Amino acid sequence: MKLLKQSDNYLSTIINDINSIHDLDQLLQRLLTEARAFTNSDAGSIYVRAGDRNLAIKYSQNATKEKTLQPGEKLIFSLFKIPIDDKTISGFSALKGKILNIPDMYNISKNKPYSHSRKYDELSGYKSISSLTIPLSTMAGEVFGVLQLINKKKLSGKIIKFTKRDERIARSFSAIAAMTLERAEMTHSLLNRMVQMTALRDPKETSAHANRVSSMAVEIYSYWAELHSIPSDQREKERDLLRLGSILHDVGKVGISDVILKKKGRLTDSERDIMKRHSFIGYQLFQNSYTKYELVAKEIALRHHENWDGSGYPGQIDLETGYFLYGKEVGLVGEDIPFFARIVSICDVYDALSHSRVYKDAWRQEDVIAEIKKMSGIKFDPQLVNIFFKVYTNIRKICKLYPD
Ligand code: C2E
Ligand code: SIN
Ligand code: SIN
Ligand code: SIN
Ligand code: FE
Ligand code: FE
Repeated sequence: MKLLKQSDNYLSTIINDINSIHDLDQLLQRLLTEARAFTNSDAGSIYVRAGDRNLAIKYSQNATKEKTLQPGEKLIFSLFKIPIDDKTISGFSALKGKILNIPDMYNISKNKPYSHSRKYDELSGYKSISSLTIPLSTMAGEVFGVLQLINKKKLSGKIIKFTKRDERIARSFSAIAAMTLERAEMTHSLLNRMVQMTALRDPKETSAHANRVSSMAVEIYSYWAELHSIPSDQREKERDLLRLGSILHDVGKVGISDVILKKKGRLTDSERDIMKRHSFIGYQLFQNSYTKYELVAKEIALRHHENWDGSGYPGQIDLETGYFLYGKEVGLVGEDIPFFARIVSICDVYDALSHSRVYKDAWRQEDVIAEIKKMSGIKFDPQLVNIFFKVYTNIRKICKLYPD
């Protein structure tokens, strides 16, 4: 780590940067690194609540120890838990919601309830002297962790105590970390509720169908990613996005009347037109979304009924109103259809044909296969149909895993 003197107003640049990073782990690591750089701290950790009574280390960085590592070797930090009580420094900070700025952890006044337990230094083989510990709390004021900076250093390497300026800086960082964690948590729980909502609406088929389509889509993506040598970290991220986005592909069906949704027979033309609105309704449910998860779900909801040859829906529409741009349905064509939507489309139809619906019996598997092959290059992206058959064994397993 560089021990740079940086001006306080550089902080706002980083805050902007940070708000655009979606990957939480990466974000918190980065926050910790920046908080250390700004305060010239040799080491630092983020602890988060583990259950009601303990804190556990989530991230730990240590410049001195990192220097002793062999190439490729990683810093091992102990997995010990710290009870949330007034006996330890971080426990006290979490319990009381207070900042603790301690010049010398080996010299804490006897009238404080907390002390520095040397066993932590012995375990890590690193001597902590000065420390600055800040609670991480939600907007509602609930503490869910602490940020701890250790051993502020002068350029000479001499360990000194943290200043008031460091406290201010650390407070800003802990506020960003808290806000981000809370926002991620909110998005996650909102999406979970949406998944549950679709299942409530149509318990008989929708939730098993959604799980199968999602799992199948992930199979196809993984094979495709392997084929195209997509780096593994990118692959994992995209897989997570697709898994969640595809599970919500039919979320717009919550806006369709039961009379149509659960009709036993075939739909009339006008009923079908209403039914087709589920794509745009799903899209609208994600309006004002900004997380990557929501944006992917939004795109899949809107585009999972587009066809490779342009015969699908909703096609070219005004995304504000849902009206056709050319006064009639003009479907998207080929690679203009978002990649994930092209994957989901195959899985959706395969699954709909393979299982019974209120309006139809399940098809025989050989007929389903013939239909998918027949529609390759017409309804479906041919490259993805090929991959579908490469992973067909797993597709069958998924059907057994989530029966109707
Ligand atoms: P779904 O049941 O999940 O079906 C998804 C897609 O699978 C359909 O999109 C269609 O492309 C394909 N599919 C399903 N069943 C058949 C079939 O018997 N023959 C053929 N060739 N393809 C089939 P689509 O058509 O846009 O329908 C979207 C949704 O509208 C369906 O989702 C279903 O919830 C509803 N729906 C479609 N047709 C009917 C119907 O005749 N009666 C009722 N009650 N609902 C229907
Ligand atoms: C802490 O309380 O912050 C860690 C344990 C200790 O230093 O006593
Ligand atoms: C959007 O996600 O905002 C539009 C995507 C599309 O038009 O397919
Ligand atoms: C993409 O990753 O979105 C592009 C892949 C493709 O169109 O085949
Ligand atoms: Fe659909
Ligand atoms: Fe579907």
